[in-house]
Amino acid sequence: MSFKERDVISILDFSRKDLGRLFLVANRMRRIMNRGTTMLKTSLMASLFFEPSTRTRLSFETAMARLGGRVVGFAEPGATSIAKGETLEDTVRMVDAYTNVIVMRHPKEGSALKAAEVAHVPVINGGDGSQHHPTQAMLDLYTIWREFGKVDGLHAAVVGDLKHGRAAASFVYGMGKFDRVKLSFVSPSSLKIRKEVADYLSEKSIPISETENLSDVIGEVDVIYVTRVQRERFSDPTEYEHLKGSYTIDLKAIAGAKSRMIILHPLPRVDELATEVDSSVHARYFEQAKNGVPVRMALLSLVLGKAR
Ligand code: NCD
Repeated sequence: MSFKERDVISILDFSRKDLGRLFLVANRMRRIMNRGTTMLKTSLMASLFFEPSTRTRLSFETAMARLGGRVVGFAEPGATSIAKGETLEDTVRMVDAYTNVIVMRHPKEGSALKAAEVAHVPVINGGDGSQHHPTQAMLDLYTIWREFGKVDGLHAAVVGDLKHGRAAASFVYGMGKFDRVKLSFVSPSSLKIRKEVADYLSEKSIPISETENLSDVIGEVDVIYVTRVQRERFSDPTEYEHLKGSYTIDLKAIAGAKSRMIILHPLPRVDELATEVDSSVHARYFEQAKNGVPVRMALLSLVLGKAR
């Protein structure tokens, strides 16, 4: 399916073929990202961040700038008419009239879809509550694809807050697009993978396993995808306090890993991934974050019909 004019709400909407095309364009963008191009010089991107962000917002804004385009928007909704009670739909209607593409992050599930329903320009979901974070999954899969030259046949362990994490859910959905993959879920029992995500995998007959201990699978996996406990999704702060620090990936925890195993993390990390791992041969999370720029350059240029 063509990317042109397409909304990017969920990774589920993208085929394996779409992802392959995106990765090839991202490889081209990677080569030109530091010198930039004028490809999108007539385009304006709206960056609407109703929730905190470092990498997603800055890499989208960087991507747009490197493509010669411009950006308007906010990272602090308190400074906009939302503070006066304006609805999301009305805010989006205005921005839709001003710009060529909207990138949005919002704490509420389904808000990107709601925005896409009123906008004429493409809406790209930069994270909606616990639900979806499609562009994170795109750069996660791109990082794996670059590392192994494929995604098919790989076994990934997804570690952490699988109940609330949108990055984890989108990563799992994305892995599910490929052949002969295996997934192992490693989490405290109260943070297990959501039913709809597990159901998706079982519909596709993808083998999964669940455990509370990484040591059960460490020797078998090609990728470990670590995530933090999502503090902002807990209604009871004592529950968060109880769970935080309940798992930490350190050098000891990965001692039995395959030599080519790589560790990914969407970041930010809190205390689930020890800094001593940063210099290990397995760490790829900073490279993964850097890949956010070429992947988002590729996506913006495709959605705006300037790349093929
Ligand atoms: C993730 C997010 O916002 O969902 N961060 C990101 O975009 N890189 C993961 C997280 O916040 O834990």
